[in-house]
Amino acid sequence: MYRTHNNGALRLTDTNKEVTLSGWVQKIRDKGFMIWIDLRDRYGITQLVLDEDRCDKELLEKAKSLGREFVVQVKGTVIERVSKNPKIPTGEIEILVTDLTILNESKTPPFTIEDNTDGGDELRMQFRYLDIRRNPVRESLIFRHKVSMEVRKYLSDQGFIDVETPYLIKSTPEGARDFVVPSRMNQGQFYALPQSPQTFKQLLMVGGMDKYFQLVKCFRDEDLRADRQPEFTQIDCEMAFVEQDDILDTFEGLTRHLLKEIKGVDVDKFPRMTYEEAMKTYGNDKPDIRFDMKFGELNDLAQNKGFQVFDKTELVVGIAVPGCAGYSRKQTDKLIDFVRRPQVGANGLVFVKCNEDGSYKSSVDKFYTQEDLATWAERVNAKKGDLILILAGDADKTRTQLSVLRMHMAETLGLRNPEEFAPLWVVDFPLLEWDEDTNRYHAMHHPFTSPKPEDMHLLESEPGKVRANAYDMVLNGNEIGGGSIRIYDRDTQSRMFDLLGFSKEEAQAQFGFLMDAFEYGAPPHGGLAFGLDRLVAILGGQETIRDFIAFPKNNSGRDVMIDAPSPIDQEQLNELSLALVTPKE
Ligand code: AMO
Repeated sequence: MYRTHNNGALRLTDTNKEVTLSGWVQKIRDKGFMIWIDLRDRYGITQLVLDEDRCDKELLEKAKSLGREFVVQVKGTVIERVSKNPKIPTGEIEILVTDLTILNESKTPPFTIEDNTDGGDELRMQFRYLDIRRNPVRESLIFRHKVSMEVRKYLSDQGFIDVETPYLIKSTPEGARDFVVPSRMNQGQFYALPQSPQTFKQLLMVGGMDKYFQLVKCFRDEDLRADRQPEFTQIDCEMAFVEQDDILDTFEGLTRHLLKEIKGVDVDKFPRMTYEEAMKTYGNDKPDIRFDMKFGELNDLAQNKGFQVFDKTELVVGIAVPGCAGYSRKQTDKLIDFVRRPQVGANGLVFVKCNEDGSYKSSVDKFYTQEDLATWAERVNAKKGDLILILAGDADKTRTQLSVLRMHMAETLGLRNPEEFAPLWVVDFPLLEWDEDTNRYHAMHHPFTSPKPEDMHLLESEPGKVRANAYDMVLNGNEIGGGSIRIYDRDTQSRMFDLLGFSKEEAQAQFGFLMDAFEYGAPPHGGLAFGLDRLVAILGGQETIRDFIAFPKNNSGRDVMIDAPSPIDQEQLNELSLALVTPKE
């Protein structure tokens, strides 16, 4: 038997027990006549002790020969510690070692296996198995397990059935590029890895499964960011005979349950905001509503008073930053530099300080009276002591820029508390999105999303104005889930493909299977998918998903540990009838 207990188990009540422990050597303190070893496993750390008086010489020498990360088995007696360590659960005891076996040696690890390691990102990814030994990574993975088990339990209790769908499929247009897999048995043909199981879950509804869920890997060949990986996991769900409200209620229930069970946080009913309102109020379709700073539009108050920059523009819009009226020239200059950075792209920034004495001081005092500025303050809901920041320009761009500035100010002022949770639904997304590059409409969510019945009449005349029965769940400024009520009749689906620029033949070739299925009694249905990695990271108080994934890819989409992707040999290429052209640099 390798062990009688794990390294987090023993307490003072176990004193005098003879035990066997196994684990990794975390740390050795060698005083010559006495040696202490911290033995680590997933469950904790137990201190081992050996000394000249109580252990034989050979045993002591063996202990001295150990190195960090050696795997050892020890036998010994639980004794009370002289100097206790209140920081760890086993801190009142130690093991007086009577026998020591080296199960495996270890090279010196390339970085320290400590909470704050000296290893850089790439190195940690290359030796991910060592990184996983560190507390923060291990705890993140255990945390993920807790969330996913809770999700499975909740959905199963609600009558959802876990059904697996295939990974070798045909391309579904979900907005990103597909990863493709060549077929040996069907030369010259390719599978695509699913960007999501969208069409399959709809077919499960046609098949009468009624309520489906799956924790499923999805694959998207898109540019990576902190909240994106090329392979990621969705909590994918679909329900039949539902309207939008049924779906929102069901998954609000799931999220509320997770917040309660995992974080001990009670949240009221989630606010619901239309896409239009979110864009006007926060310049963003995934607003962080943990803090205020709502947009106030100032066109009617600030135009036609002689300030040309504002007069000639589509939108003048501002926010009130709490408590920053005292900003120095240096600080306001820094904000101007911030908005002028190419990533933000504004030309400049106008500010108004709302002084404690009720007066205003602005960067455009020449053009505006104190009374003018007071109306602005009222519009953006500024209090005494606040700093009003104003941008002007093309409406869409300016809203986006002010949204970036709003997040920057929140970050600077520490308003993005990771232990506070502010979920909301954003609903009524536009059905279509105009794409400048290809000069045609794209489905904003995906082509299976149903238009709002009341907007159907605009489908041919003003397609850009049609709203969809589509919704996103937003948590702390992150899109953690999204879905829609689906089209379930052949005619509407076919009209949709027309609008998206598919010929009848293309639509039939790619999605004939789905439209055919709609002709065999497809029920009304809808659903959504959460990004599990994102959900877990945010519940864990972070926005980077990488540390919540056991073996993530780096920013170039590489697994640096196994060195993938990598070339394949000529024989494999021949078998697949693939010829390599010179790869792009
Ligand atoms: P959507 O494309 O919005 O919807 O994806 C659902 C959720 O998945 C997460 N997500 C990602 N997480 C990590 N890395 C990525 N590259 C990544 N891409 C998306 C997001 C997102 O909200 N089939 C539809 C769902 C439906 O209509 O039911 C779909 O996939 O959190």
